Amino acid sequence: MTTTHSDVPDIGRTGPAPATDAVPEAERLSEAERISLDELRARQLDRLRWTLRHAYENVPVYRRKFDEAGVHPDDCRDLADLAKFPYTTKHDLREAYPFGMFAVPRERVRRLHASSGTTGTPTVVGYTSDDLDTWATVMARSIAAAGGRPGHTVHIAYGYGLFTGGLGAHYGAEKLGCTVVPASGGMTARQVRLITDFRPEVIMVTPSYMLTLLDEFERQGIDPRTTSLRVGIFGAEPWTERMRRELEERAGLDAVDIYGLSEVMGPGVAQECAETKDGLHIWEDHFYPEVIDPVDGNVLPDGDTGELLFTSLTKQALPVIRYRTRDLTALRPGTARPAFRRMDKVTGRSDDMIILRGVNVFPTQIEEIVLGVDGLAPHFQLRLSRTGRLDELTVVVEADAETPAERRTGAAAEIVAKVKDGVGVSVGAEVVDPDTLERSVGKLRRVVDHRPST
Ligand code: DLL
Repeated sequence: MTTTHSDVPDIGRTGPAPATDAVPEAERLSEAERISLDELRARQLDRLRWTLRHAYENVPVYRRKFDEAGVHPDDCRDLADLAKFPYTTKHDLREAYPFGMFAVPRERVRRLHASSGTTGTPTVVGYTSDDLDTWATVMARSIAAAGGRPGHTVHIAYGYGLFTGGLGAHYGAEKLGCTVVPASGGMTARQVRLITDFRPEVIMVTPSYMLTLLDEFERQGIDPRTTSLRVGIFGAEPWTERMRRELEERAGLDAVDIYGLSEVMGPGVAQECAETKDGLHIWEDHFYPEVIDPVDGNVLPDGDTGELLFTSLTKQALPVIRYRTRDLTALRPGTARPAFRRMDKVTGRSDDMIILRGVNVFPTQIEEIVLGVDGLAPHFQLRLSRTGRLDELTVVVEADAETPAERRTGAAAEIVAKVKDGVGVSVGAEVVDPDTLERSVGKLRRVVDHRPST
C-alpha cells in the first residue's frame, strides 16, 4: 500500500465512497491489484501448475484421485485443462481428518483452524507461515477495497478461535496498518461501549450480529448513525441488497460484502469494493474460481449461475484442487479491480435450499420479502414442520416495537401473499413479539427443522 496515515481520505458516511475516486488509481490500488489481465492469466497458469504438482507429490489422496481420473499435473498446459482434474469435497477433508490432506510436514504448520463440526467430523485446515502471510495480504487488500485505510481503527466482532473470521480479519487489519479492537462475538452491551469509546471507523461482523448490535445501541438510547463507524465489512453468511439498505440506513455507513471459506483460506477470498458495490472481486492471483452445473458437473461460462469451485494457487500447507464450495453464484468481468472477476452475492448454499412441495426456496428470498413489509423487525426464522406427508414452512417474524396488534395480522397476510407471488409456494406466517427470537452472535441459523428425521 502506498497510502500513508496522512493520506487517509474522508470516505464519507453513506453512498458509494466518493472520496476514494479522488485518489488516483495508482495510489489507491496495490501493485498486485493493478495487474493486467494477460499478466494475471500467465501468473495463474504458473501457479496452477505448481499447485497441481505440489498436491500430487505430497498428498496421497490427490495422487490417488488424479491417477484414478487418468490425469497428471503435466497435462495442465492451459487454464482450461483444469477441468480434466477431479473435484475435492468436504467429504475428502473429513475422511482425511485431522491432517491427511496436508502437503507439508506438521512441523511446518504454524496455525490450525477448524469448522464447528456440528454436522459431523470437523474439517481441519492448516497454514504455513507463508500461507498466513498470503492470508493477511489478501485480507489487507479486502479491507482497503472496502474503504478501510491505514490509521483507521477496526472493530472485529467476528468470532475468534477455531473459526477463521476473527483471526483472519485481525492479521489483515494489522497488516494494512490499522488499530485493531479484537472484540470477538458476544457481550453485546460491551461491544456498544467499546465502539462508543474507541471510535472505530470500520466494523467487521456478520450482518445478523450487526442487527443485534444496532438494536442494542437503540436500547441504550444511542442513535447508531451518530457513531464513528463509516464502513461495515459483513460476511460469513448470505445477506441481500435489502439488508444492505437496512444496515446502511440504520447505521449510517457503507455496507460491503466479504466472502471466504476456511477450506480455501478464510475471509478475504473475495471482497466487494466500496466504490462500486457491485458484487465481490475474487483475488484471483491466489484463488482460481470456476462455476459448474451442480448436476452434470460441466464448467459453465461466466455469467451463468451454478456451484462455485476454487483451486488454491499459492497455498503450501493445504492446497485445494477444484474444491466444491456448494455456494451458488455467477462470475462476471472485473470493474473496480479490472483484472479480477467478480462473483455475484451468494444467495445461498445448495445445502440451505429448502425444497418445498417441489419448489426451491432460499432463505435470502424470504429475507427480501420480510424486509419489504411495514411494521416488521428484520429478525425472522424459517420453521419447517410436517403434517402427514406434507412439509410446511412457517415464516416467523418479530414485529417492530411500535407496531400495533391489528397491523400484525395484516403483515402476516402480506408475507404469505408475497411469498406465493414471488417464490411460487404457499407458506404460513406468524408475527411474534419483539425480542422473542434467538439472536446470533456469529453465523446465523435461519432454518429450524422440526420435521421428524426419516
Ligand atoms: O465463514 C469465513 C468468513 C469469515 C467469511 C468472516 C467472511 C467473513 P466458513 O466458516 O468455512 O468460513 O464458512 C464458509 O460461509 O462456503 C458460504 O456458504 C458462507 N459465506 C461466507 N461468506 C459469505 C458471504 C467463513 N459473504 C461458508 N455471503 C461459505 C454468503 C457466505 N455466504
